[in-house]
Amino acid sequence: MNNKIITIIGAGPGGYVAAIKAAQVGFDVNIIEKGPFGGTCLNIGCIPTKAILYPLSFLNKNYNRMGIMTDKMKIDLNKLNMWKKGAVNKAVKGVELLLKKYDNIKIYKGEGKLINNNEIEVNGEKIKTDYTILAMGSIPSIPKIFDVKGVWTSDNALELNEIPEILTIIGAGVIGVEIGFIYNKLGSKVTLIDVLDHVGGLNVDEDISSELEKILRGSGIDIKLNVKVSKIEKNKIVLENGEVIETSKIMLAMGRRAMIPQWVEESGIKIAKNKIVIDEKLKTTMENVFAIGDLIDGPMLAHKAMHDAVKVINNLEGKENKEYPIPSVIYTHPEIASIGMIEKEAREKYGDEIKISKFPYSANARANCTKELKGFVKLISFNNKLLGAHIVGENSSEMIWGFGVIMGNALEVSNIENMVFPHPTFAESIHEAILGINSNYIHI
Ligand code: NAI
Repeated sequence: MNNKIITIIGAGPGGYVAAIKAAQVGFDVNIIEKGPFGGTCLNIGCIPTKAILYPLSFLNKNYNRMGIMTDKMKIDLNKLNMWKKGAVNKAVKGVELLLKKYDNIKIYKGEGKLINNNEIEVNGEKIKTDYTILAMGSIPSIPKIFDVKGVWTSDNALELNEIPEILTIIGAGVIGVEIGFIYNKLGSKVTLIDVLDHVGGLNVDEDISSELEKILRGSGIDIKLNVKVSKIEKNKIVLENGEVIETSKIMLAMGRRAMIPQWVEESGIKIAKNKIVIDEKLKTTMENVFAIGDLIDGPMLAHKAMHDAVKVINNLEGKENKEYPIPSVIYTHPEIASIGMIEKEAREKYGDEIKISKFPYSANARANCTKELKGFVKLISFNNKLLGAHIVGENSSEMIWGFGVIMGNALEVSNIENMVFPHPTFAESIHEAILGINSNYIHI
């Protein structure tokens, strides 16, 4: 024990990982959570979406063609919902058990409020603390004109209580695409609307968004780009060009905003552009108070929040933090996984000297065995080093991490060309794309 107390407000992926790491290195830990453990990710985000997508992925497969004769498949929404709840409950219970494993973690159920940097209030009780980590996460962003009764956010969509005949989603970023993909499989007629000229949100590689658009359109999803919504009613969307869309249900997926309660504003902690301002050690403008995850700048991703948590505890321990690029995934079928720079960004920074290599899944041996032929690996490099990697394709979420090792350690392309990949695997597409940087592809 180091005789110091650390108090964490919020038990999402950032908060609970901070509690465990802090307990492991000897802090006395208080963790305060007003809702279920695991926050958005476990309850109404990453976990339920992946639990729903897994069974729905069977609908993509032509079993009869493979010699597995099945009757026509149909969806039982109640059972699917129970399956999803099973995954969520196990994950949430798992976090509780993990926290309870440590004698030096004390759990408070209730809303925590920072009074000053040595005192936190929860359920009318004041607790003393040496350090505080703010980890309250984020909530869907709903602009005033879209705040209409009966309109969904992803929170409602993931309850799986009904399958609307027509579902129109405003925002074709990550959430819009994933929920649109799910409801398309469930049988809704889905339309995605976005002000941008592409799908996938702001910072997506052009080749990736156009492939994603092809995948979405190919599965029957309608997409309207470059359009502005001027008004919505419960079942009606009026576009700025005068077009009126009648729909059974509207869902908003126009971004999320950091959960910054009034007590943060009143504490004097600096906030800019609706994010808590932090320094390089993730410390807020209040001494000994830190902020992590969706509350601060950077991608709003569970694994980024977990990584922030580890960084804060390492910093308090006086340990160095090594920086690695942060991967991101869009869980459609096939999946889309990215890390590092997109081509536009690399071109702006390094000009036309950058090299692009691209290997299609259709030329991969494993893809041929499974007929998961859609997609490609795209690599962006400069001066013998990788700047970015983007994969559209089966299992890409499980493969992207390797690029973190390559890019985080600035390994040279010439040093990784001879890596040995097992055959036959989808991952061989990565090897081919690496070889392709110097035009040494083997299978195309
Ligand atoms: P986003 O920023 O990815 O996409 C929002 C989209 O809404 C943008 O394309 C934007 O142009 C559009 N938009 C905004 N206002 C609009 C308007 N008035 N009319 C039409 N379109 C409009 O945000 P999203 O999808 O809500 O996701 C929020 C966060 O959650 C993201 O940071 C994302 O990374 C994270 N997330 C990550 C997931 C993953 O890793 N698989 C899954 C779900 C969410």
